[in-house]
This record gives sequence, C-alpha cells and structure tokens, in this order.
Amino acid sequence: MSSNAFVSGFQTPSNALVGRRAELEIVDEVVSVSGAGTMLVEIVGDPWMGKTRLLGVLRERLELRGWATASARAAAGSGLPYQVFVDSLDDDVSRDAERVRDRLGTERAGTLASVLPGWDAVPRQMTKGDSTERYRAFRSVGLVLETMATSSGLLLIIDDAHHMDEASVALLAHLLRHPPDAPLVIALAYRPLQLDLRLEIVLRSVPEVTVSRRILLGPMPSEDLARLAPAGLNQIERQALVRLASGNPGVLQGLASAVTPMAGGFPGHRDIRELTIGIPPVLSAVPADDFGPLSELALLHARAAAVVGDPFDLAMLEAVAETDKHATFAGMDELLTHDIVRPAGSGGRFVFRDLVIRSQAYHAGRGIWRYGAHFRALAVLRERRASATRLAGHLEYVAGPDDRDGVALLEKAGRQAVFCSPGDAIRWFQTVLRLRAAHPSEPELRALLGQSLLLAGRFAESEATLDELLDDGALLSPEVRLVTLEWSAKARRLCGRWEEAEALVHAGLGELETSGLDLTPLWLELAALAADPPSRPVTDDLRHLLSRAAVHRDPFLRLRSRVLVAALAMDSVTDKHIRPLVSLFSSLSGQDRLCAMDSWYWLAEVIRRSGAFGAAARQFSAALSAADNAGQVHLRAPLAMGLSRTMIALGDPVRAAVWADYARDAVTRTVSGAAWFPVQRSRADTRLGLPEGNAFRPDSAPAEIPGAVGPPQPVVMPGEGADAGPRSCDSGRLAVLSQREAQIAELVSMGHTNQQMASALQLSHKTVETYLDRIFKKLEIASRAQIAYLVGVAVQPDQASRCAGDG
Ligand SMILES: Nc1ncnc2c1ncn2[C@@H]1O[C@H](COP(=O)(O)OP(=O)(O)OP(=O)(O)O)[C@@H](O)[C@H]1O
Ligand SMILES: [Mg+2]
Repeated sequence: MSSNAFVSGFQTPSNALVGRRAELEIVDEVVSVSGAGTMLVEIVGDPWMGKTRLLGVLRERLELRGWATASARAAAGSGLPYQVFVDSLDDDVSRDAERVRDRLGTERAGTLASVLPGWDAVPRQMTKGDSTERYRAFRSVGLVLETMATSSGLLLIIDDAHHMDEASVALLAHLLRHPPDAPLVIALAYRPLQLDLRLEIVLRSVPEVTVSRRILLGPMPSEDLARLAPAGLNQIERQALVRLASGNPGVLQGLASAVTPMAGGFPGHRDIRELTIGIPPVLSAVPADDFGPLSELALLHARAAAVVGDPFDLAMLEAVAETDKHATFAGMDELLTHDIVRPAGSGGRFVFRDLVIRSQAYHAGRGIWRYGAHFRALAVLRERRASATRLAGHLEYVAGPDDRDGVALLEKAGRQAVFCSPGDAIRWFQTVLRLRAAHPSEPELRALLGQSLLLAGRFAESEATLDELLDDGALLSPEVRLVTLEWSAKARRLCGRWEEAEALVHAGLGELETSGLDLTPLWLELAALAADPPSRPVTDDLRHLLSRAAVHRDPFLRLRSRVLVAALAMDSVTDKHIRPLVSLFSSLSGQDRLCAMDSWYWLAEVIRRSGAFGAAARQFSAALSAADNAGQVHLRAPLAMGLSRTMIALGDPVRAAVWADYARDAVTRTVSGAAWFPVQRSRADTRLGLPEGNAFRPDSAPAEIPGAVGPPQPVVMPGEGADAGPRSCDSGRLAVLSQREAQIAELVSMGHTNQQMASALQLSHKTVETYLDRIFKKLEIASRAQIAYLVGVAVQPDQASRCAGDG
C-alpha cells in the first residue's frame, strides 16, 4: 500500500518512543476493538507534540496484525482536490486496476476518475448540481477501500488533517456517514488551533455507526521529556532544556540541536530571555514546514516579529516590517491562523508559539535586512522611552564605535543587569569593551564584567578577567582594586581554593590599609572563609570588625555581617538570633534579595545548623529558585549541598543523594578539576546514609528532583509545618565531642587528610592524630567513614523544633 506521503518533517528519530502511557493504552484499545466496521481515531495536539509519531505506533501495531495501510499527509494549498485521497490511494488503485474493475464493474469504476486523476478513464466533470455523480464517485471510493482491506483490515491515515482541502473533507464526511463494509480504521492527526471549521463540523457529527476515539496529546511530563535530551548533558543542563521546551518533544529536539554537551551546552549559559529576545541560536533538526503555507506578507511580519522579540505589539510590528496598518493586520491574521504566533494576555501583545519557531522566523531573514530591522525596533523603543535593558536587547547588535549614546546605554543596561540577569550583563559589558577598544583600560567595567561572570557561574573566566585587572597594578584606583580583590577571593573561595582566597584578602588588607577606604567587604570575605568549611581561624581583629559591621550604614553589608556572625556561632545561635535575621531578609524586595544571595545562603545554613530543618529546606530551595530564575548560578552547589545535608537530617537519604548529585553537576562544568571537598563530602554522606541495597543511581530517579522542570521548587517536607526532627538514633552521639574534636570530625567527614587538617587548623600533625584517636574512642568507632556518617546525621534534638514555620 502507498506510504509515499507519510513522512514526518522531523529527522528520523533514532530514539524509542518515550512516555505517553495513557495515549498508548488508547492505541492498544483501538487495535483490540478494530475489525468490526469503521472506526475513527483522532490524534489531536499542538505542533510537534508527537502526533505523527503516535500515528506510526498505531500503524506498526495494526500491520503486525496483518492490516494494510494507506496514508497521506494533507498539504496546505496544494490546489489538488481530494489531495489526501489521491496521495493515499491513487498509485495503488492504478497498480491494482484489474482487481478494482472486477470489484466495481467497469462503469462504476469509471466514476473514480473524478476523484483519482491517475485512474484510466475520462473524468466526468462534477458540478455543484451534479450531486448524484459525486455521490457515486464517493461510493466508488468506499468500495475501493473495501477492495484494499486485507482480510484483517485497512488503516487509512490522514496526517496534518487540519490542512485538508474542501473536497477531501466532503469525501471523508461521506465515508463516515456511509462506512465501507470492511474493517477500516480512519486515523486523523491534526493541530486543534488550525482546524478548519468544515472538518470540525464533520468530526463533531460523526454518526453513531462509526466508533470513534480521540487521543489528546498534551505537554509531556518533565521526567519523560528529560529522557529525550541528548546524552552527555548533566542533570542541570537537562533540566534547563526541559524547562525551555515546556512539555513539547519537538521543541526539545529543536533546542537540543544547538547544544554541544561537552562544551557545556547552552542551557547552562543561556536563559530564556536570551532566547525570547536577541539573536536566537540556529536550530537544525526541525522542519521549517510551518512557513510553507504563508504569503510573502505574513513571512515579512514573522521575520519582523522575530527581530522585535517576545512579546511584541502591532504598532511595533508595523514600524519594523515597514508596512501600513492594513497590511500588518492581514499579515498578523495569517500568522495567528497558522498558529505561528499567539496572543499574550489581553493587552494587544503577541508572542511566538515557541522558541524554535521564533528562531526559524529570525533566521529566515537576510542578515542586512535584520540589521535594519533591529534599528527600526530600537527607534520605536526609544520613542517609547523603554528601559535601558530593553533597548540593549537591540543595541548590542547595531551599536557602532561612534554611537557614544548607544554605548553608554549598553553600559547602563549592563550595570542594571549584573545581579538580576548576569548573562545579559556579560554580553553587554563585552560589547561596550569591544566598542571602546580605543580606551582599553576601562578598569571599572572589567571589574563589573568579572563580577557578572562569577554570578553567572563562569568561574574560570571570572578569575581570568579579575586577575588580568590585578596585573594592571598601578592603573587601578584603590576603589576598583578593593572590589577586584574581594571578587577574586570570592571566586577562589567558591572553587574551594581557600588558602589562595585568604592570601588575596590579606594582601588586600595590607595594601589598602592606608587608603582610607572602608575595607569591610574584605573583612566579610575573611568571615565567610572562617564560616565556610574548613573553617579558617577567627582572629580578634575579625571579631571586632564583624561586630562593627553589624551596624554598618550599608544595609547589605550590615545584613551580611549579621548573618555571618550567626554562621560563625560566635554567640551560640538561638531562635532569638535567627528570627530577626529571617524577618530582616523577608523585608527585602525580590531585587534586593538577588543582590544578597550570599547572605541568603548563609541564612539558610544558619537555620540548618540550628536544627530547624523544615525552615532551612524552605530557605535553601527558595534561594535556589530565585537564583536560577535570575541566571545567578554561582551558589547552586552550596545551596544544593545545604539541601542535601538538610535532607539527611530529615531522614530522607534518597532525596539527599539527589541534591548531592545536583551539587556535583553544578560544579562539573564550572570548577575545573578542583577537588571540591564539600561536594564530595555531601555525596559521601548521602551514600553512607542510604539504606542497605538502595544505592542511588543518578539517572534512576530524575523525577525525585523537586521541580525537575526549571528551577527547583520549594521542597515539600515530611511533616510540613512542624519540623520533623532527627530520625537517627545516632544523631546525638557527637555531643560527647569537645568543640575542637567536633571541628576535626567535620573536616574528616569532608574527606580531608590529616595533613590538610593540620594546616587548616594551624596544629601539628601529631596533635591532629591525637584528636582523631580521642574521637574514635569517644564515639566507639574505628573508621573515618563512620565519622562522616555521624556528622551527616548529627542534629541537636533540643533545637529541632525551632524556627518551624519561618521562611
Ligand atoms: N513520545 C515521544 N518519544 C520520543 N520522541 C518523540 C515523542 N513524541 C514526539 N517525539 C519526537 O518529536 C518530534 C516531533 O514529533 P511529531 O513529528 O510526531 O510531532 P507532530 O505532533 O506530528 O508535529 P506537527 O504538528 O508538526 O505534525 C519527532 O522527532 C518525534 O520523533
Ligand atoms: Mg506531524
């Protein structure tokens, strides 16, 4: 049987069908009940949801039972009446003419010529009035289907049925009203938003003699979609891709074609903003069929809309496409009819239906035309007094070295984006630096670029940028030097190179002592190093400075120092200390919280250390979500580790392992080769905490990651509302250790050698060994691994219910 036109536009997938269990059950039901008369199956879903794929499954399963198949794909604007019937039947009927004539008789067979142009007879012209002739031709097609059905049956597939021509719809309606006397399944796949009204009426009035089934293909669950992501991506990258695909397997496949797993892919570096405005990546693997039926006018508006970016409005479109209102309405009408764009709310604004279709529309325009279009978009936005960041989305492509105002605007936009969208800030600063090549020093801008790179989790680039700046030496003002040293130290601390970080801070403190500058940021870095395992010593100077900073006039420094004081447990932390910190933080705006991510992390960590695990988990996951949404990924690993440890304390080792692996993935592409003890430790803990025989396999439970699509969602805790407290009877055993012994136990659990501990704590090797002996004796254990386990589950039961409900 013919299968000539039954091809999906997508590249032949090598992957197996994923998920769709409920839909496959309906397919199975269709297969089992088919055989008694005519059955109609509708597969309905948005573009690229997998309709053709599912039709393929139905076909496979029926063919296995000996069914024959005739299939076609409706083509928009083919101009050929009965196109789907011609494509699915014509060849086979001509080839089998003898059998058809035998069955229909010569005269009746002659009527086929008015439907099937390949039929060897002179077609009789059918006119509107000649309904009898048409009826006879349709009856003949019904008989042809009976002839083609094997003893088992015939599957007639009409893919992309929303494009069916009027004549084909009329013939389909006839077949449903007068079902052929043979086992027949008519399977249609169509996009609901593009469904032709005539076909809709036919499908809504299927007579009762015809059994029908509808399969609605909605968005795929994220855990299924994640399985379609390319191999080689880690789970964070996979999640980012899944989030961008919004449940659509074809969109995922399209976006994935721009991912190069070994280089980190784009999900790690590109956020949704970069894909909805600005230049999208070129995507292969996805057919551009959607544009085929469009007129030149509609294509022009699609290209113009893609340059403007999501969302866009008609006035903007008119200006960028350089057409009048009338033409813009006509173009938009077509784009809406063909589901290329969709209304965005009720404000007269529109968006592309998905990121892939926008990318295709963008790259359909010639480069020079696009350049002009960006200019026109910019002019409209300037007239509208749009924000610097909105303007920058176009300026970055069109600003030239002589456009001083444009470059200044880009710089302004970059400054505004550092914390709330560091990915944008990086591109904009880089553009400014390129355009101002005549003045290469620009130290302040380069320092900001280094900060943005760090916030975006691009540690190596951040370090290189800041180091280069420090090498400039005399060119740096003390202010810029201070900032550069602070962020250089931060980069090293976040990569686990504590000694280097500490050395940098000390060098800065010495160098800038007489500068008259407020050195609090450097002191706070020292405090963070002291609070960050392995704890560096807290000197009297640091203590003094911290207590002064707690009343600093800068609210961010004030907040940071207060949280760090609590983290260092310089006072024994109690509910009394934590509550004001939580309410101080809660009073910050969303934007301010993004500028204080570091403090947010410490706040969650302090709450965890106090034993209020439910509240800690909420803070960690809220911080992780907010940071991810803003593209600030530098604290992903510590936040995920915090969650992992919290899960251990809550007696949920499986989830703890998921978060530990998430933390590992957060550093694999960013921290080159650094043996990152806290991450290793967190992972070791979770493995030790796992019940026997329940070893965690990273890919076995992606759905376990709360909020697997996109930013992790707040974790639903066991016993939500009242902290569940410790689950392990081992949890209190560490209480027998002295403060120093507990500190050493913590370092052991992180995988430190005796030598490393000796140098971190400024003790002799021998003393460390003595402490270890005492720890083994007191805890009645014999291995370092057991220490790690006990540290992982350690809690202070009397504090376990504190702060419940905070956050
Ligand atoms: N459940 C699935 N498992 C694996 N791959 C899938 C699945 N669903 C869809 N795909 C893949 O996604 C791509 C788009 O699917 P398909 O072509 O079937 O979409 P469609 O709904 O027919 O789109 P259109 O509306 O353009 O006809 C194809 O490459 C297909 O193989
Ligand atoms: Mg299809």
